[in-house]
Amino acid sequence: MKTTTAVFAAMKESGDKISMVTAYDYSTAKLVDASGINSILVGDSLGMVMLGYEDTLSVTMEDMIHHCAAVSRGAKDALIICDMPFMSYQTSVYDAVTNAGRLMKEGRSNAVKLEGGTEISEHIRAIVNSSIPVCAHIGMTPQSVNAFGGFRVQGKTLAAAQKLIDDALAVQSAGAFAVVLECVPSALAEYITQLLDIPTIGIGAGQGCDGQVLVYQDMLGMYSDFTPKFVKRFAEIGKNMTDAFVQYDKEVKSGAFPEEKHGFKIDESVMNELMIRKGGAL
Ligand code: KIV
Repeated sequence: MKTTTAVFAAMKESGDKISMVTAYDYSTAKLVDASGINSILVGDSLGMVMLGYEDTLSVTMEDMIHHCAAVSRGAKDALIICDMPFMSYQTSVYDAVTNAGRLMKEGRSNAVKLEGGTEISEHIRAIVNSSIPVCAHIGMTPQSVNAFGGFRVQGKTLAAAQKLIDDALAVQSAGAFAVVLECVPSALAEYITQLLDIPTIGIGAGQGCDGQVLVYQDMLGMYSDFTPKFVKRFAEIGKNMTDAFVQYDKEVKSGAFPEEKHGFKIDESVMNELMIRKGGAL
């Protein structure tokens, strides 16, 4: 069954936890979809884990559309949320609506996600009014890494905690159907979750959120540049891949691969005819 924003609302109501993970390509999206995970986030984290940038700032609309379209071909049931990249919405309400529309029309996403609270609530309202569901994202918002002076836990002082609460309420009243809370102290995230009618999706925000999201390369042990404290490794796929590549390298070099069964047959008469034309053995 397709997960919709209405399913998210019903899960908040019933207290069922929402699962979300990132994916950026067709094959991974199919695997995620088959697992029963409720939602796929085509995150702009793809800039780091897929494209090797040091942060998410260089990611373009074209990158997001390209990856989101691949995911949407692979996922039938999961709700697909596509990140709006840096400077695709901050510049104006007009840009926000136009670019959100492109992610839906060209990327075939079911919803968009954008970072920020009170300061972008007007943008969120305009996108929602264009019939495009919006997931908000507050707390440690990676597109603001330079403004924050690094990747840091947010909301630790009274003023910062109050700002996060105000932001959460602002994005909810602007029409967001859910909000990601990233790197927020657990007790504060739980407090915000209880305050809101829309689901909160936590990443480094503790157990009290309505759902959780992780970057799949982090949870599968495939990205070694940096592992945040909040990540749990559910598998060591990176090590499995390296072991397999090492084995492949050995077998190619030793001639153990490919075996006869991996090849294709040709009629012996064709080979004989070729030899006759060449005037002897090949
Ligand atoms: O880009 C991303 O993957 C995200 C998650 C970390 C929430 O925004």
